[in-house]
Amino acid sequence: MKKNIKLIASSLIAMGLIASPVASAKEIVIKFSHVTTEATPKGKGAMLLKKMVDERLGGKVRVEVYPSSQLYGDKAVLKALLLNDVQLAAPSLSKFSKYTKQWALFDLPFLFKNPQALNCFTDSAKGQALLGATERKGIKGLGYWLNGMKQISANHPLIKPEDAKGLKFRIMSSDVLKAQFEAVDANPQKMAFSEVYNALATGVIDGQENTWSNIRSKKFFEVQKDTTISNHGVLEYALVTNKRFWNSLPSDIRLQLDQIITEVTAEVTQFALDAAVKDMKTVADSGKTNIHTLTDAQKQQWVSAMKPVWSQFEDQVGKDNIAAVQQCNAKN
Ligand code: SIN
Repeated sequence: MKKNIKLIASSLIAMGLIASPVASAKEIVIKFSHVTTEATPKGKGAMLLKKMVDERLGGKVRVEVYPSSQLYGDKAVLKALLLNDVQLAAPSLSKFSKYTKQWALFDLPFLFKNPQALNCFTDSAKGQALLGATERKGIKGLGYWLNGMKQISANHPLIKPEDAKGLKFRIMSSDVLKAQFEAVDANPQKMAFSEVYNALATGVIDGQENTWSNIRSKKFFEVQKDTTISNHGVLEYALVTNKRFWNSLPSDIRLQLDQIITEVTAEVTQFALDAAVKDMKTVADSGKTNIHTLTDAQKQQWVSAMKPVWSQFEDQVGKDNIAAVQQCNAKN
């Protein structure tokens, strides 16, 4: 009888349905590695997560945050995550093509009308189902974290799509982003985030696309004479963990971490919305880059040039997902 009870208990522990006394006695260390500075939506989110874990789970769980690519760049971090050398990361959804082709949805140019439409989609049933796309590769999506709308910059004004012709633009490792720049006859170059500033400063590349938060925190505006408010794409992160590590956590700890992540995710949304306004102003006030606002007609030319890219990827990302985003656009 005793033996049976022991057997049932150990099975429940293995399934993560009850806490293991051994596992909960030892402090669990969660290493969170990411590439932005602490003064960004993701950087602040990571520090808030650490703080809330200290407050609610101190002694049982400790989060160590490694910002600014100091531990790993985004390519290496996913490998490290799968080896359980780090337990949390939040790369851009554009950087997961080795693990899922579906998240390429988020890179389609001019798909999302604004951050509110993006949040509407990620909160929807379809968005939540998509968060599970990397699970069969051992990477568990815990939540979407917002950064915002991307802008485009170079060393001359980018007003018409032809202005981008022949220029080398840094992109994240995404085939959709590659196709997007090829659609305007530009020359896209996949490159790690940590290398972009130097590549711009030395002329290895001519331009880049990123959010106001990243343009400000990585000082790209100091080495780009012209920045266009294009809002042509989005930068959204997946907060991810190692699936096996996550399932091995005592269930009470996992539940509390889930709750903390939900609360932090809401704060990150607000950090991101605030940063988009504040960082754009900081960049504009610096006077170091000329900010260009497109007329509706000019914007429409970029849409016409880039949107045909959708047809190349719609089977891969799901026409139903595109339709769901469009419903969110209509509501926002
Ligand atoms: C990030 O915000 O995590 C970096 C995005 C990029 O590589 O441009």
